[in-house]
Amino acid sequence: MKLAVIGVGHVGLVTAACMAADGHEVVGLDTDTSKVDSLRAGTVPWYEPDLQELVDKGAAAGFISYTTDFSEALDGVDVAFICVGTPMMDNGSPNLSYVQSVASSIARHARHPLVVVEKSTVPVRTGERIRQTLALESMAHGGEMHEVVSNPEFLREGTAIEDTLRPDRVVVGADSEHAHGVMRALYQPLLDRHGCPYVATDVKTAELIKHASNAFLATKISFINAVARICELAGADVEQVADAMGFDHRIGRAFLDAGLGYGGSCFPKDVEAFIHIAAELGYDFGMLRETDRINREAKAWPLHQLRRLLWNVNDKEIAVLGVAFKPGTDDVREAPAIEVVDALLDDGANVRLHDPVALDNVRERWPEVSFCGGVEEALRGAHAVITCTEWDEYAAITPERLRELLAYPVVVDARNVWSAEGLRKAGFTVASVGSPLT
Ligand code: UGA
Repeated sequence: MKLAVIGVGHVGLVTAACMAADGHEVVGLDTDTSKVDSLRAGTVPWYEPDLQELVDKGAAAGFISYTTDFSEALDGVDVAFICVGTPMMDNGSPNLSYVQSVASSIARHARHPLVVVEKSTVPVRTGERIRQTLALESMAHGGEMHEVVSNPEFLREGTAIEDTLRPDRVVVGADSEHAHGVMRALYQPLLDRHGCPYVATDVKTAELIKHASNAFLATKISFINAVARICELAGADVEQVADAMGFDHRIGRAFLDAGLGYGGSCFPKDVEAFIHIAAELGYDFGMLRETDRINREAKAWPLHQLRRLLWNVNDKEIAVLGVAFKPGTDDVREAPAIEVVDALLDDGANVRLHDPVALDNVRERWPEVSFCGGVEEALRGAHAVITCTEWDEYAAITPERLRELLAYPVVVDARNVWSAEGLRKAGFTVASVGSPLT
């Protein structure tokens, strides 16, 4: 089939590359000319494992092209995916103006009826608004009547290609047999290659599945972070608690890693958005407000620990390891490390920051921070270290080497990168998440 992907950011480009890998002809559109220029020149302008290779393959086979022009993008396509951002506004609700603007442009430029797919994460009932916008624009300009589908993505940054090529499920919400038929045909190559559940629903249900899934995963993380606080107070070990809980197949071990809390462009925004749309519909989702509160508490934990272990932190040299919101990505959006570094700077600490891939994304934010190209450079002579992202290269540092590098034997391990026991044996004073405070 031939399709357009409007917005070739993290979600859009992965969608385009994976659809091309399944034999569809894809035109990626973005209004950001520098992004389109870079993609046309063959360079993916951010880091995502395997994406560059898949994009190269699609382009070489003639299955992916890029444009900034709507008429060109929509020419002869069956399906148009909306993959633009829905950033959070001050009141917690997502800004849907980009989605509306794309819907208007589609209606103005399409020369035949399309299936318009919302892939961007949006609150329930956004499909109705898209349909309304498409209809109003079509009436105003004598255009075609289009159908609206919700097809949420469940990809994680860092494993986006794997998650999209081999998903746990495909969810498609449509309100007509025709739209369901088109989407089923689109996904048939994937289903033939990778037999996963295909969940066909109405539009509103599909929209809700996305918010409910992300909010549930965020709540799982906050739950274990709350248990971690109790473990610290009681002298128990949260990792053993999580492992033993995880053996129960009804619970599962995934997303029970206690730590610095969730960040990224999805969970913080989606939890807020779900609270907001629930309230708008007349339901107070108090449980999610608590999920959010516990997450804020998790991000404040390292500085509390540092003050406990060092007393005053002003003028102390503090090594911060990791600024990406999780390993495997250079994305720093809503990264918990940002709050940690901001708080350290407010307290007058001298921060030496290391991250294997994400430093360029924060250089302008903190002129006073020392950006370290190597992890040992960050650690050498520091009074304490805080781990904020669990990159493998940090786990490989032995307690002995850490002892040689740091001025004081003080560790705040906010991602449980190291064995607390191993560090204690090597003479460190350690604050690890969810284990007895020493
Ligand atoms: C998340 C979801 O996992 C995807 O299914 C979804 O498609 C995506 O949002 C989205 O809506 O686009 P992502 O934000 O890439 O994916 O990252 P995750 O791997 O889910 O991690 C989110 C945050 O939770 C990270 O900061 C991570 O460090 C944290 N986390 C995760 C924990 O603190 N503990 C855990 O056990 C797991």
